Amino acid sequence: MASVQYPSDAPAATSRGVLTTANGNPVDHNQTSLTAGEYGPVALQDFHLIDKLAHFDRERIPERVVHAKGAGAHGYFEVTKDVSHLTCAKFLGRVGKRTPVFTRFSTVGGELGSADTARDPRGFAVKFYTEEGNFDMVGNNTPVFFIRDPIKFPDFIHTQKRHPQTHLPDATMMWDFWSLVPESLHQVTILMSDRGIPNGYRHMHGYSSHALKFVSQDGSYRYVKWHFRTEQGIKNILPAEAARLAGTDPNYATRDLFDAIERGEHPAWRVYVQVIEPEQALKYRFNPFDVTKVVSQKDFPLHEVGRMVLNRNPENYFAEVEQAAFCPSHMVPGIAPSPDRMLQGRLFSYADTHRHRLGANYLQIPINRPLNGANTHQRDGAMAINGNGGSAPNYEPNSFGGPAQNNLPAQTHARGVAVTGELARHTYELTDDDFAQAGDLFNLFTAEQKDRLATVIASSLSQVPLFIQKRQLAHFYRADKDYGRRVEAALKAAGSKI
Ligand code: HEM
Repeated sequence: MASVQYPSDAPAATSRGVLTTANGNPVDHNQTSLTAGEYGPVALQDFHLIDKLAHFDRERIPERVVHAKGAGAHGYFEVTKDVSHLTCAKFLGRVGKRTPVFTRFSTVGGELGSADTARDPRGFAVKFYTEEGNFDMVGNNTPVFFIRDPIKFPDFIHTQKRHPQTHLPDATMMWDFWSLVPESLHQVTILMSDRGIPNGYRHMHGYSSHALKFVSQDGSYRYVKWHFRTEQGIKNILPAEAARLAGTDPNYATRDLFDAIERGEHPAWRVYVQVIEPEQALKYRFNPFDVTKVVSQKDFPLHEVGRMVLNRNPENYFAEVEQAAFCPSHMVPGIAPSPDRMLQGRLFSYADTHRHRLGANYLQIPINRPLNGANTHQRDGAMAINGNGGSAPNYEPNSFGGPAQNNLPAQTHARGVAVTGELARHTYELTDDDFAQAGDLFNLFTAEQKDRLATVIASSLSQVPLFIQKRQLAHFYRADKDYGRRVEAALKAAGSKI
């Protein structure tokens, strides 16, 4: 089952030099500890032993609080259509231009060792190493999300994780939350549909989900939603097969990505944006910054931008994949945030968790380091390994030289956005619009897919208290009568007293 191609015969011994301690002292023996006599205790002065054990004791860093299980690969992004009239981002400046990328795919709720075939959204995070620093597109394989206000995120994630007492995944927590937060219905419908279990990471699309801004040199801007469309075609795994793989090959997607790249089958995605002018955003029939909804491609068609190809596996999983830190607030000049509340919450959350997970100097780790080099007045902190600014001034303004701001308006932000209104907690009203897109999606499915959707929902929903089933069933009916009827029938078939 191993993905690395080991030779069948023992290879000829190749010398990689003398084994040393981490501080470079030659190691005389790596198989036997230093003991006082043959039956005596181990000596504390065996630095090599102590350092080996002590380093081992610290091998694990905290796993990502979400998206812990994942796989990544290197590649490039190439511009295929001119978008220089839409953004001054240099990496998008001319057709044919290539930018190195590192992409990490993941499941969301499970721990580092969990099965790749879980029913779960998939993370789709791309780090573009541009000449103006890194741009991270931290999206999912779904164009929408369960909630539209970041204040709900920790609660939502708690329902996807383990029960505080039993330490088991708990269907009641999930459906209790979803039924009380019905704007989740669109994403719940995707999750419970065939697309809820993609066949590996190569056969799925990726989306920014949020709108971002493309900004021109003159400060004018428009909103864009990113779409990465798989060239491998969409493929999903049916529930019984997913369950089998969870037992027999829990690293199915990780292996599939690694092996395909080793075979020279380099997965690729065509990259598009939907472009929304600010005045169109204001007039749109619903809030285009509500991440529980898609913005119709009939209203805002896809514009091709480029192509992403993944063609190189990591040399070392921990160094490159586990230590990768993607952050929606890493944006280059020409790309800026939209007012999407969820995105705004994420602009804070990722760098914050990276400082916790990887340390204050996480941007000095090679996989996260910008290729153009960072030039800051930040100093010190644990693991300051980049020379720490040497003897250069560590403050600004100063009279002794050093990096200075470039005063280009488009480089910081788009032309001012007028903000009016009272500082208050402006609650989203729940309207029929919050159910319509779930119903529309349901109606795109074939009869067979609708049946499967209802069965998958019922197999989980039937396990939870009846009052929650009833509350959730009303949402399916509100999305579409046939959706409600099918789920109700499937619940009864699964033994529910509904
Ligand atoms: C990972 C927070 C919503 C996509 C994470 C991590 C945190 C987080 C703390 C772990 C990062 C790490 O340890 O490196 C949040 C918050 C959200 C939110 C607070 C809402 C307010 C979303 C949404 C998407 C998304 C809407 C997709 C559109 C991802 C991805 C990763 C991730 C792809 C994994 C990145 C990687 O591969 O390292 N999120 N998230 N998240 N999140 Fe979110």
